[in-house]
Amino acid sequence: MSTLTRSEVVHILRNKTGGLLTEEQIQYKTGLVEQILELKESMNALILGHNYMKPGLFYTVPDYCGDSLDLCRKAAQTDKDYIVFCGVRFMAETAKLLNPDKIVLLPSQKAGCSLAAGITAEDVKTLRKQYPGVPVVTYVNTYADVKAESDICCTSSNAAAVVDSLNSDTVIFLPDEYLAINIAKETGRQIVFPTKNGQSGKHKDTDLDVQMIGWKARCEVHEKFTVDDIKQVRKQFPDTYVLAHPECSPEVVAASDYSGSTNQMIKAVEESDAQQYLLLTECAMGDNIAAMHPEKEMLRLCSVRCPHMNEITLEDTLAALQNKQYQIDIPTDIAQRARRAVERMIAIG
Ligand code: 13P
Ligand code: SF4
Repeated sequence: MSTLTRSEVVHILRNKTGGLLTEEQIQYKTGLVEQILELKESMNALILGHNYMKPGLFYTVPDYCGDSLDLCRKAAQTDKDYIVFCGVRFMAETAKLLNPDKIVLLPSQKAGCSLAAGITAEDVKTLRKQYPGVPVVTYVNTYADVKAESDICCTSSNAAAVVDSLNSDTVIFLPDEYLAINIAKETGRQIVFPTKNGQSGKHKDTDLDVQMIGWKARCEVHEKFTVDDIKQVRKQFPDTYVLAHPECSPEVVAASDYSGSTNQMIKAVEESDAQQYLLLTECAMGDNIAAMHPEKEMLRLCSVRCPHMNEITLEDTLAALQNKQYQIDIPTDIAQRARRAVERMIAIG
């Protein structure tokens, strides 16, 4: 990527951003991209970009773009001195866990995640007391201190495989309510949701006949999609191929044609010969796929933008490299335990 010439950058910004940029904006952004690419080279830095980055960033500065699992793997393999993570905090933390000796930079301090904010390490400890001996799987969308209390992590692309790999009758699966229900369904398990004070309603502490214990955090983006959205679109475009991220409600996933991680959805669009597609996920990804496949018609409910991913801009990415900010720092005892949970997941393949 660092070999992009000025005219190649201009071409990308003109042709892959939906025709929304003025000539002045294209010249301004090209200047930012050039500076980022020069610094990336001179600092021996790697830039990772999540699939939810806007096209002007997605197509220009990252060495690799991908879903959470893919980017974990890329972070684990790098020999660069710096990793700049164009994504959200939990992703940058995961990169740091896998590269304790490297400097990991997150371009904005505001790039959080409603799922990661929805559970604490204390919550996990309480659940462990309530369900002794039951393995804990945490979605990678959590902070390092929560991962440190877990046995293994998972992402949306490997959650069912991770649960199955434990060979355990009962599994605690945290913190996404909808992902847990979707994975319980996929792996043929019943699910209960304990309340914050550690009670699970009709199930007592010893009721280990339940096969999955969940938690009620949600993605503030994916919880907004409804079955009605799908019906409305299908009324107008009956043959639309509907793809939903598994952080959507189980009803939305059931009404869709395909559900998978962001990479898996990109692949599903590539492999399908449908004329129209409805993507029920963060809307920048629809823009990125539309630019990849101009021949395919992407129908999106485009008001749904992740406010955390939206924080990452070309300006902040440049400032991250210039000022070596914002460095991810994880206390050693937490990092050691959290790393084990992430590495166990990566080993599953
Ligand atoms: P993926 O792992 O599918 O890229 O999802 C990350 C995420 O934050 C979805 O909202
Ligand atoms: Fe978190 Fe949802 Fe944003 Fe993904 S889209 S980073 S799960 S808030």
